[in-house]
Amino acid sequence: RTCERYAVRRLPFARPAERDVAFFERLMPGRVLAGQPEVEPFNVDWLKSVRGCSQLVLKPQTTAEVSQVLRYCYERNLAVNPQGGNTGLVGGSVPVFDEIILSTALMNQIISFDKVSGILVCQAGCVLERLSEYVEEQGFIMPLDLGAKGSCHIGGNVATNAGGLRLLRYGSLRGTVLGLEVVLADGSALDCLTSLRKDNTGYDLKQLFIGSEGTLGVITAVSILCPQKPKAVNVAFLGCQSFAKVLETFTTCRAMLGEILSAYEFMDEKCMELVERHLKLSSPVADSPFYVLIETSGSNTTHDEEKLNNFLERAMTSGLVTDGTVATDDKKIKVLWSLRERITEALTHEGYVYKYDISLPVEKLYDLVTDMRARLGQSAKNVVGYGHLGDGNLHLNITAESYSHSLLDAIEPFVYEWTARCSGSISAEHGLGFKKRQFIQYSKPRKAVLLMQQFKAMLDPKGILNPYKTLPSAPERSTG
Ligand code: FAD
Ligand code: MLT
Ligand code: ZN
Repeated sequence: RTCERYAVRRLPFARPAERDVAFFERLMPGRVLAGQPEVEPFNVDWLKSVRGCSQLVLKPQTTAEVSQVLRYCYERNLAVNPQGGNTGLVGGSVPVFDEIILSTALMNQIISFDKVSGILVCQAGCVLERLSEYVEEQGFIMPLDLGAKGSCHIGGNVATNAGGLRLLRYGSLRGTVLGLEVVLADGSALDCLTSLRKDNTGYDLKQLFIGSEGTLGVITAVSILCPQKPKAVNVAFLGCQSFAKVLETFTTCRAMLGEILSAYEFMDEKCMELVERHLKLSSPVADSPFYVLIETSGSNTTHDEEKLNNFLERAMTSGLVTDGTVATDDKKIKVLWSLRERITEALTHEGYVYKYDISLPVEKLYDLVTDMRARLGQSAKNVVGYGHLGDGNLHLNITAESYSHSLLDAIEPFVYEWTARCSGSISAEHGLGFKKRQFIQYSKPRKAVLLMQQFKAMLDPKGILNPYKTLPSAPERSTG
């Protein structure tokens, strides 16, 4: 049981009863799941690493319904777990005990799209890939993209402040989200769903909900700025002989590609081995200790190709890169991206995955993988590194046949202490959720955590929204 492994006690919320189910059935006929086996998939996270035991899933379609649900739960002291596409990687999207699951699966309407400004307004349960297709038909793209696009919801993306594969170019959701509609714990709706690029009237309240992981309110609608669809996209997939060469290739390509660089991702040879073995993908370049994926996006094919070719020639002749391939057509571009995007999926075929998502000074990024490999020796099956190098974001993943407490003890808190010594972040983009909340103090001072707890108490005085998530349960220790 999840709660036993993580030693957490159920808080004194009311337990959902027959009369509660009857109330919800009246409110949303046919959109209430009560009992097995329908509720089971909503209780287990994507990694299959945490499991709750909720017996109740609600599927509202409108903001008014979300308001009524929360007003009722607030009065009855019932705990609620907001859930989008359930692709979160830190156990935040599933209940720990019997929290009611509030799914945004049926809140999937596009409200408006302005073709001049590129501003999209939609309900929180729209699937990211569907939004991408919709705006692409009109000459725009979503400002974010991630491997889970086929399942994750835009509300879940905002609630986790997801980073992903386009952050290097288009920045974080903190910049591209222009407005939000949120229902607070007591059921009242906060309408900050503006579509303005500039608005300095008081505090920017939406920022509080971006990255709040369902603990401060339920996001019901999002207004987001979409960039123009680039006319020319190229992807280069290259092999490097050392991590030092990966870094030098990065500085060289930043200097030579300038404004057209739109992604700089890396993966190590172990990752390549796993995507080849489990997903039957094939490497397009000669075996190398490291691989990088570089994407350019611009408005002039000839100009972009010339720049990219000049860079590649420099990288090859100076020995930064030993082999490489370039794609200009959509199909090959997708094939190259899948080598990087599907590492997460390949890892799950190896057994239990211990997942770390760390921000570090870029020159130290791979030292953590090397140190961890040396520390764990034969006790781990794989220790791999990949990630958004251009954003200083390492994904360190360790696999073993099955979960073991002793292996976890060998990894944590070592990984967090290592990160704190470099003034890094113990969660670059996945959030804290259920699994990482007790480690917040490695990346935030005590005063900041206290202030977060005060915000939580003000917005959700009964603590019914996503309890056991994001904020630590007991007063945190100082790291000194
Ligand atoms: P869920 O998993 O359902 O929920 C995540 C959290 O948000 C939970 O705490 C939940 O309570 C809360 N939440 C969900 N919807 C709402 C709402 N409407 N209102 C309030 N709270 C809500 N993440 C990255 O940052 N970058 C990546 O590149 C990336 N790649 C991924 C690739 C794969 C294959 C997978 C499986 C995951 C990846 N992730 C990545 C993690 C995950 O996809 C993101 O965190 C995503 O944003 C979660 O969206 P979701 O709709 O699935 O949310
Ligand atoms: C990625 O960049 O692939 C995602 O964040 C998922 C992961 O960390 O595995
Ligand atoms: Zn990532």
